[in-house]
Amino acid sequence: MAELPSDVVDDAERRWTYVVAAVVLFVFATIVLAGVHWAAQTPSNVEPIDASRLHLSGEFMEGNLGTEMQPDGSAIVRVIAQQYSFVPGCIVVPAQTRVVFRATSPDVVHGFIVAGTNVNTMVVPGFVAEVRTRFDTMGEHVMPCHEYCSVGHEGMWARVKVVDRQEFARTYGGQRRASCVRQ
Ligand code: CUA
Repeated sequence: MAELPSDVVDDAERRWTYVVAAVVLFVFATIVLAGVHWAAQTPSNVEPIDASRLHLSGEFMEGNLGTEMQPDGSAIVRVIAQQYSFVPGCIVVPAQTRVVFRATSPDVVHGFIVAGTNVNTMVVPGFVAEVRTRFDTMGEHVMPCHEYCSVGHEGMWARVKVVDRQEFARTYGGQRRASCVRQ
C-alpha cells in the first residue's frame, strides 16, 4: 500500500482532533448544564410558600391543619413539620379514599414517610410538598421524620390512623378537620 504524504496525514489527524475535542466539549457542557439545572430545582412536587408567615394566614394556620374532606369526596391532610414534631401528631384519614398530603416547614428541612405506603417526601421550608395516596386497609402507620433536622430528630414522628370511611364520616364529620388523640 502506497504511503500517503505526511501533510495529508497531518491534515486528517488535525481534523479528527477537532471533531473529538468538539464531542468531548459537548458532553462536558451537557453534564455541567444538566447538573446546574437540576441542582436549582427543589426536590419532590413542591410549590413556594412564605415560611415566616405560616401561622398568620392561609392554609397552614393552626385551625386548618389535619384532615379536611373535600366536596369531591377526597381528603386533604395539611401538616406542619417543625423541630421536633409534626402538627397534628396523629392524623386520622378515611380508608378507600383519595388522600392528598400537603406539608411544609417553618424552620429547617424535614422529611416524612408513611410506613408501608408510597408516601415519602422531603419537607423544605419555603415550599409545600404534596403527595397523593390512598389507604385501602384500616390500621395505623408510623410517620417518622427521615431528614436529619438536629438534636431532636430521632424523636420527631407522628402517626397516621386509617379508619373505616363510614366511621370517619360519623365520628369526625363530613367537613370537620380530624386529628386523633393518643389513647
Ligand atoms: Cu425533622 Cu428530622
